[in-house]
Amino acid sequence: MDYQKLVDEAFIASENAYAPYSSFKVGASLLLTDGTIIHGTNIENAAYGSTMCAERNAVFQAYCQGYRKSDIEALAIVGDCSPLISPCGACRQVLAELLDPYTPIVLGCKDYYEVTNIQELLPRAFIGESL
Ligand code: THU
Repeated sequence: MDYQKLVDEAFIASENAYAPYSSFKVGASLLLTDGTIIHGTNIENAAYGSTMCAERNAVFQAYCQGYRKSDIEALAIVGDCSPLISPCGACRQVLAELLDPYTPIVLGCKDYYEVTNIQELLPRAFIGESL
């Protein structure tokens, strides 16, 4: 899998960020097993808590189109920060539900990326099987 290409796609996604309050543009890209790439970016709101993060927008969009976790090959999340973007707690909780535990998650910045997964980012997650 070409992780650099997925990072590049996430940066393209970030160009559509609506971030008038933080000016912090985040991009996400999802690679699906049928080759489709889905973009997400952060969409902020004057009521700050109503903001939606880039990675959640991307994964929700995939699910809205009928894709499910078995269709997701990898997720990239990028931002112009050092050393790397780190998904917020709410995103980790959502990713724990909607991604397989070991699906590659690529965290990227301008010229560097690392590959991790939600099992590593949110160990011992509270998920449906816990109920
Ligand atoms: N943000 C994301 O979109 N994803 C992350 O992983 C971290 C934070 C957004 C939310 C908000 O629009 C801005 O970054 C600053 O917190």
